[in-house]
This record gives sequence, structure tokens and C-alpha cells, in this order.
Amino acid sequence: QQDIKAILGKEKLVVGTSADYPPYEFIQQVDGKQEFVGFDMDLARYIADSWGVDLEIQDVKFDALLTGLETGMYDLVIAGMTPDPNRKANFSHIYYKSNHGVVIKKTDAETITSLESLPGKKVGVQMGSIQEGIADGIEGINKTSLSNINNLILELKSGKVDALIMETPVAQSYVNANQDLMMVENLVIDDGQGGTAIAIKEGRDDLTNQVNLVLEQVEKDKLMEEWVVAANQLASGVQADNTSQTSPYNLLIKGLVNTLALSALSLIFGLALSLVLVFARRSKGIFSLPAKIYVELFRGTPLMLQILIVYFGLDVIGISLNAFTASLIAVALNSAAYVSEIVRSGIESIPKGQMEAGRSLGLSQKQTMKEIILPQAVRNILPALGNEFITLIKETSIASTIGVGELMYQTSKIQSLTYQALKPLLLVSLIYFVLTFGLSLVMKRIEKRMTYDN
Ligand code: ARG
Repeated sequence: QQDIKAILGKEKLVVGTSADYPPYEFIQQVDGKQEFVGFDMDLARYIADSWGVDLEIQDVKFDALLTGLETGMYDLVIAGMTPDPNRKANFSHIYYKSNHGVVIKKTDAETITSLESLPGKKVGVQMGSIQEGIADGIEGINKTSLSNINNLILELKSGKVDALIMETPVAQSYVNANQDLMMVENLVIDDGQGGTAIAIKEGRDDLTNQVNLVLEQVEKDKLMEEWVVAANQLASGVQADNTSQTSPYNLLIKGLVNTLALSALSLIFGLALSLVLVFARRSKGIFSLPAKIYVELFRGTPLMLQILIVYFGLDVIGISLNAFTASLIAVALNSAAYVSEIVRSGIESIPKGQMEAGRSLGLSQKQTMKEIILPQAVRNILPALGNEFITLIKETSIASTIGVGELMYQTSKIQSLTYQALKPLLLVSLIYFVLTFGLSLVMKRIEKRMTYDN
């Protein structure tokens, strides 16, 4: 106990989770604020308290958790995780036992009655979960894996998949909240691994031992039983409670602020960097080739990948950025590559003769550039720049994968808070549209201003 802070290496415990998993971990409105609740979260708080450290909870998609553990982003992963031997991690003792079931639409009650009914059907599972392995083990089924369980529920409700394989307690929570769904009766799938454990970075046996010590205390005091009852109560209260409190749709305001901040800042930094790139590229000196390589690299790989690399990759070398900053850097770096090409083509579209003309009128090269070439170039590239900025606004949505609270992230939060699927999606589409259309009007305005001939 006395040396736990030394083992952790800091005064704070960072726990990674994926809060789409009632009653293990989910998001709940408590006094108008969103909180991480569920028995896994009680356990996380208990561990932090026993160690006398602060707790920070990071909510990301389930299939990103083990990466974060490996890179040192989280100290522990507490996410209803099965101690699968194929997973590259240390595992604690099992603290909760569970098995799996199959969720279907009530209208399919007659047609899907056992595992034997599944071949030929479309079956959904969470990406990166052991339910994937269970699905793979059933011959002849058509598997769909998605990162977020809320989206799986959506697919089931809309008939895109016929059944979901889910951990029994989670299945029960979702069935309770969705009148049109049910679990296939008397169908229990055992994964042979016995339940849920805490994941710790591979090889960190000291930390694993400390976790196990706390778990022994939890078991001795029968705390898990209490937490499970409380979590189930919270999960079943979701619908009833939300109506009386401030609407979860308020989260969209928070999302909008984050999306705007992320877009505006990365647009500005991206633009600034792009000018440096253009300058380097046109300099014909030693910086020309690196600038060219930069552009090709950033155009040639997906933004999603760049965000993940900045976020997790920098963490490995000891630079730990929060999700917002990491996304800002990645989006700005990415956008700079595109914008620099647009700016370059704009400058190059002005006939060389104009520079010569300027020079022969007695202007310096700089003056000609500033007074003659650039104004025309800027006017020519405005439409292309507008396109790029619109794309940038929409692409900031990718930051939701590492948990930045922008519009898309808040949308899935709302989905899990309200158990409504389509309405949040339509609303957020409208918001994006207003944003991009607004920007497009602004760009048109600027274009008009810069056209001399009208
Ligand atoms: N028990 C399963 C696994 O370890 C699924 C866990 C999913 N957890 C979550 N928080 N969504 O693969």
C-alpha cells in the first residue's frame, strides 16, 4: 500500500473504459451533469480511494482500449473485459462472473429460438470483443462488428441485423430499455473464461498484484454485490429519470462548442503551416523536398490514422497530450498538406509574365508578389479553399474515436442516454449542415468582395 504511488509513478489513476455497457459502465445524468456510472466505475473509484490517488476516467471505443493500455495512456482498463489469453495484457482476478445471450426483435420470437436458428442470419457483435470470437465459432452466420453497442442496437431495431450476441447483463439492460427487443429464452453461451477482470499493461506484475489486493478486499466486504444492485437500478431508471432532468440534448451545445473550437483552431494553424510549406516548396532549396514529402505523406494516409498516431504514438515517447490537443494537431497537420497544394496551384496559375511585368515597372520581387500575384492567386483559390474548410469541419468528427467531446461524440452519448437512435443522428446532421452552409455563404461573400469587375 505504502509504495503504490511509486508503482503508479504518479498521484493519479487513469482508467480506460468504454461506457456503452450498462450495468458495467454507462453514462447517466446526475443532477443535470453526465457521469460515468455502473459497477465497474464503482470499482474504479474504490481502487483509487484505497490507493489514495485521484481518479481520471477516459471513455473510448472498446477496441481502442488495449492500445491505450499498451502505450501507457491508461493504468488500468476496467471495461467488462474478459481475461482472454489472446489479449496482450496482464489480467487481475475475475471480479464478476457472466456469460452471453442473444438479443432479437420480439417479432422474431418464433423464428430465432436457439443457436441452431442463427446460421444464414446476420449477427451483430461489438468490435474487438470476445463476442466476435463466439460469432466466428458459429458456422454459416453473417457477422457484423461495430464499435459502439448503441449502433448495434440501432441495426437490430431497423432490421439490418437479425440478432446480437451480448453479455447477459448488458443484453438485459438494453432489452429493458427497448420494448421491441427480447432475449432468446433459455439460451446461455459460456465463453469458458468465467467472467470479467481488470486489464493492466503486460508485464506490470507489481501493479497487477496491487489490483488483486484491492479485489480481495472487495470480495471480503461483498462490495460487488452492492454495486451490481445499484448499477441495475440506475440502468433501469434511465428512461424515467431523463424526462424530469435537463434534456440530454443539451449535450449538443457542448458538442457544437468543441467542434467549432477544433475546426477553427485547426483551420488557422493548418493555414499558417500551409504557407510555410508553400514557401519551402517554392524555395528550390533544401526545404523543397521535405515539404513535398510532407504533403504526400499527409495526403496519402487516413486522418483517422494520423489522429491515433499523434494521440497514442506521442504518448509512447513521453509526450502525453489530451485528446483535444492531439486531434487539433493531427487535423491541422493534415489540412496544411491539402491547403498548401491549393495555395501553390493558385500562385502557379498566375502567368510568369506578370512577375516580369511587375519587375520591369520597377517593383521588387516581393512587391510584385504582394501587390500583383497574391491578390489574384487568393481570388482564384477561394472556391477550393472553401471546399477544404467544409471538409475540415466534417472531418473533425473523427476525433470522437479518441473521446473528444465534439458533435459526433455527444450524439452517441445522447443515444445511450435516451436509447433513441435516429433522432440524435438527424439533429446532428442538421447542425453540421448549418455549419458548413454558413461557412459556404461566408466564402461566397469574400469571393464577391475580391472580384474587381462588378
Ligand atoms: N466481455 C467482452 C470482452 O471482453 C466485451 C466487453 C465489452 N465492454 C464494453 N465496455 N463495451 O471482449
